[in-house]
Amino acid sequence: MNLFEKPPTKTQFLQSLQSGENVNWYYRIQEIIKKKTKNGDDFLDLTVMDKTGRMPAKIWNNVGQYYKLIKAGEIYKISGEVKDYKGKKQITMTQVRVVAANDSDFNPADYNEIPPFDSLALLEQTFSLLAANLTHPALIQLVEFFKEEYGPSLQQAYGAQKIHHAYAGGLLQHTHSVMEMALAIAPRYGLDKELLLIGALFHDIGKTAEFKTQPALETTLEGGLLGHVVISLKIFLNLKNRIADFPADLSTRIQHVIVSHHGEKEYGAPEVPKTPEAYLLHLLDLLDSRMNIFSEQLKSSDGQKLFSEFNQALGTRILLVKE
Ligand SMILES: [Fe+2]
Ligand SMILES: [Fe+2]
Repeated sequence: MNLFEKPPTKTQFLQSLQSGENVNWYYRIQEIIKKKTKNGDDFLDLTVMDKTGRMPAKIWNNVGQYYKLIKAGEIYKISGEVKDYKGKKQITMTQVRVVAANDSDFNPADYNEIPPFDSLALLEQTFSLLAANLTHPALIQLVEFFKEEYGPSLQQAYGAQKIHHAYAGGLLQHTHSVMEMALAIAPRYGLDKELLLIGALFHDIGKTAEFKTQPALETTLEGGLLGHVVISLKIFLNLKNRIADFPADLSTRIQHVIVSHHGEKEYGAPEVPKTPEAYLLHLLDLLDSRMNIFSEQLKSSDGQKLFSEFNQALGTRILLVKE
């Protein structure tokens, strides 16, 4: 039986899929990678997306045929089953075909990913928080330039391709969260909150140029050759250079927060943190990314298993059942 001929298809947005559910719906293939099983057989490792989010998917059969057919970034009608794999939902795809002209239930507007929260409100909150806490005229001007040039992309960008905040609006959520925590902690240690806020705002903004998420998920040339730490630094310098008499020492301290935020050279930091503000920003960056890994893992689990598989970033398995 041709699975696509099964009686009537219903809207199956990724967010509402449950383990065990049969899928017969349209998704954008955001990423496709040919891999080998332990036995040496080929399989396809994919990521599918729609306006409600993303989900991993696999193709185990007819690998050669589907590898030829599927182009990353295109939308296909996919038939298969949602399974629980390593404590996360994924689709085992059994049939894939291109969208046909008579697919009357297909709506191309369903494939522009929308942040899973009110990202415009959060963007405004982020800039209000900056406005309420910055007193230095050069920094106020810097934020104006930033808002104009990078506000829209910050609102939409992923926080990463994988691992943490890997969804539309994720970068904004992460940036805002690091800012709020920095504000809460700065007074305890007498730290410079303005330096921390600007560092938080700029530290990952290079991610908006490091990779693309539409139509396919792809590292850009600049992203692959420079990485977001250096791109963030360049963005800061470009905007800063538009401001006459930007204090040189302040500029260097901000640059230091940006370049050291990964904490260690082996994690891509050109320099390790050498000021308390840089050290705090590094820790808050790490804290926020790790807490997001927990929350995303818990969200995607259906509660069937007690523990996730080994999580590389956390170095352990995660308890999946809340109570
Ligand atoms: Fe980063
Ligand atoms: Fe970050």
